[in-house]
Amino acid sequence: MSEMIKESSLLDVQNLHIKFDISKPFIHRLLNGAEKTYVHAVRGIDFSVRRGETFSLVGESGCGKSTVARLLSGLYEPTDGTISYEGTVLADATREQRQHIRRRCQMIFQDPFASLNPRWKVERIIAEPLVLFGLIKNREEGKKRVGQLLEQVGLAASDMEKFPHEFSGGQRQRISIARALAGEPEFLVCDEPTSALDVSVQAQVLNLMKDLQDELGLTYLFISHDMSVVSHFSDRVGIMYLGRLVEVGTVEEVFNRPRHPYTRMLMDAIPSMDVIHKERTPVTGEVPNPISPPPGCAFNPRCAFATDQCRQASPQAQNISDTQQVACHHPLAVD
Ligand SMILES: Nc1ncnc2c1ncn2[C@@H]1O[C@H](COP(=O)(O)OP(=O)(O)OP(=O)(O)O)[C@@H](O)[C@H]1O
Ligand SMILES: [Mg+2]
Repeated sequence: MSEMIKESSLLDVQNLHIKFDISKPFIHRLLNGAEKTYVHAVRGIDFSVRRGETFSLVGESGCGKSTVARLLSGLYEPTDGTISYEGTVLADATREQRQHIRRRCQMIFQDPFASLNPRWKVERIIAEPLVLFGLIKNREEGKKRVGQLLEQVGLAASDMEKFPHEFSGGQRQRISIARALAGEPEFLVCDEPTSALDVSVQAQVLNLMKDLQDELGLTYLFISHDMSVVSHFSDRVGIMYLGRLVEVGTVEEVFNRPRHPYTRMLMDAIPSMDVIHKERTPVTGEVPNPISPPPGCAFNPRCAFATDQCRQASPQAQNISDTQQVACHHPLAVD
C-alpha cells in the first residue's frame, strides 16, 4: 500500500513476495509426473514503518506474519520486491551497509528459550553481539556493558553469572531484549514477543518495551494475534490475509472504522471490556490452503459481500484517508 510520508520512514517494503519450494524430491516428481509445488507465503506487500512508531501486523495463523518478520531481518531472501532501510535497498547494499543494518535492526522471537543458547552464561549471550560489532575492547569492558544492559531491562548485573534455565519465562524474554539492545539498534522486529508468557508477565514485558521505546527512541514492527495488546501498543496496524495486506491504518481507524470485511470480522470477535453483555461474533470460516488460494480476492469464500468481481479480480489497495488504505472491491461504509 502506498504511503504518504516517505521522508520519515525508516523501513520501506515494496511489492514483497516470497515463494517456498515445497516440492517432493525430483525422482518422485519424475515417476509420478508431478509438478513442482510452491507456497506463495507473501504475495505482494507494500508498507512503510516510520521512525519512532510501532507498526503492528495482525492476522490469523499462517497468513505470513513471521515470514515478513524473517524477510525484514534478512533471514529469508525475497523472491521479488524490495526492502529498503533508511533508503538503502537491502539487495543492493554493500558489505559495510549490510553490517550497519544488521546492527541497527534486531529481532525478538516468541520463544526466548529457543533463542538463548542454554549452554552459555547470560554474560556470554549478551556479550556476543558486543564482540561481533566490535563495541568492546576487553572482557572487563564487556562485563560492565552487560551489567548495564541487564539493569536496563529490569534484571540485576549479577544475573550475568547464571544460565538461561535459572530464569522464568518473562526474565528470559528480558535477557533476549538485553541481547537485542546490545548493538544499540534503532529498529526491533518483535514476533509475538509475549504470547508464550502469562498475562501478568506479558504486561510487564510490554511495559518494559514501551519504556525502552521512549528512552531510546526505538521503532518497532510488532507481531501479535492479541488484538487488545495490539490496540494498546501500536500506532498503526496492518491486517494480513493469506500473504497480503488487506487494510492498513492508525489504531483508531482500523479498530473503530474498519473498511475491509475481514478486519470487521476480527474486530467483532474481540471481547469488549466496556459492554459486558455485548455479543461477540466469533471468527467463522477457515483460511484457504495457501498452496492453492482462491482466485480473485482470497477472502471471497468467507465474505458475506462477495460478488463475481471479487471471485475474479484481486483488489488493489485504495486510499480511504491519508493514513488508511484498504484492498477491497466493496469497502464497508462507515456509520
Ligand atoms: N520455511 C518455510 N518453508 C515452507 N513453507 C513455509 C516456511 N515458512 C513459512 N511457510 C508457510 O508460509 C505460510 C505463512 O507462515 P507464517 O509462519 O509466516 O505465518 P504466521 O502468520 O506467522 O502464523 P502464526 O500466527 O501461526 O505464527 C504458511 O502457510 C507456512 O506453512
Ligand atoms: Mg508466526
